[in-house]
Amino acid sequence: MHVIDLRSDTVTLPTEEMLEAMRGAELGDDVYGEDPTVNRLEELAAEKMGKDAALLTTSGTQANLVSVISQTKRGDEVILEREAHLYYYEVGAFSILGGLVPRLVKGNAGVMAPEDIEGALRPPNIHFPPTSLVCIENTHNRAGGAMWTPIQTKAVYDFAKSRGLNVHMDGARIFNAAVAQNLDPREFTRNVDTLMFCLSKGLSAPIGSLAVGDQDFIDRSRKCRKMLGGGMRQAGIIAAAGIIAIEKMVDRLKDDHANAKMLANGLARLGVSVDPSQVQTNILIYDVSGLGIDADGWVSKMSEYGIKTGAVDANRVRMVTHRGIEKDDIESTVGVAEKIIDQLRSGA
Ligand SMILES: Cc1ncc(COP(=O)(O)O)c(C=O)c1O
Repeated sequence: MHVIDLRSDTVTLPTEEMLEAMRGAELGDDVYGEDPTVNRLEELAAEKMGKDAALLTTSGTQANLVSVISQTKRGDEVILEREAHLYYYEVGAFSILGGLVPRLVKGNAGVMAPEDIEGALRPPNIHFPPTSLVCIENTHNRAGGAMWTPIQTKAVYDFAKSRGLNVHMDGARIFNAAVAQNLDPREFTRNVDTLMFCLSKGLSAPIGSLAVGDQDFIDRSRKCRKMLGGGMRQAGIIAAAGIIAIEKMVDRLKDDHANAKMLANGLARLGVSVDPSQVQTNILIYDVSGLGIDADGWVSKMSEYGIKTGAVDANRVRMVTHRGIEKDDIESTVGVAEKIIDQLRSGA
């Protein structure tokens, strides 16, 4: 059976060119700062993001964690959107390892407005932990790949600065936001203090993310990464693929966006509760409760036809397009959805 894996863009495999680059990478001990390929990747990442410096980490989770720990102190409060990946999917690491307290704000399709943050801020008071950081997520995973615009980012940044707060962007998929809005990523990054982005999602590298910011922040993050066991020695093997990810794999993200839109249109035609105009990048989240099934039931029926998807809660299912998913796969997926819906309607 031809398997169509729509669970995540993290399932992408490295390209042949990446594998060759990994084989031929010039290597050294990165804990001594002596891996030329890692150094080249970090310089490239910093330059693309318009910041001083960057740090290669093992994962997006680790990049978020070192970023958050490196600009807060234990006992601080951090403002996050209530469905933020950092809060929802990262095992509570910033609380467990960073001693930080989350303060959650409900956004609109993942985007917080200055007023939302203002409403969550509490004045200095003996009872309250001090707030030091706001985290934003672009694109927003649990909001179905929804994007922040540069204007929205600037509004939050200006407000945060007026209150003495730093802003960190979980930009795991910042290139998706940039490509979808036809903008340079620097349009977003100029209005955050720090960010992280992933090489191992739609950009197809096998491993790695980068924390990016000013030199001081990166020096602190490097030490924090070491503390977390992330000093990786000959990490040029990873970095070699990462360089290709950044240089060659960005433009094709628009194909993933077109495929997600096509999938949304196909499902909407079948009566599935999804608004294609809200599908802005490569993630599609839809509610199946109106079809008389729950999310786990839908995921399991789809898998019988070789289509892998994932439940995001009791009623909603997520599909993610990526390199390796072609138009034919989208048509097949819609065809399978139609079959399942017919079965559900006929009570089969
Ligand atoms: C928005 C967002 N942030 C962070 C991460 C964490 O990345 P990793 O899986 O590499 O730890 C993910 C992973 O899916 C993500 O979607």
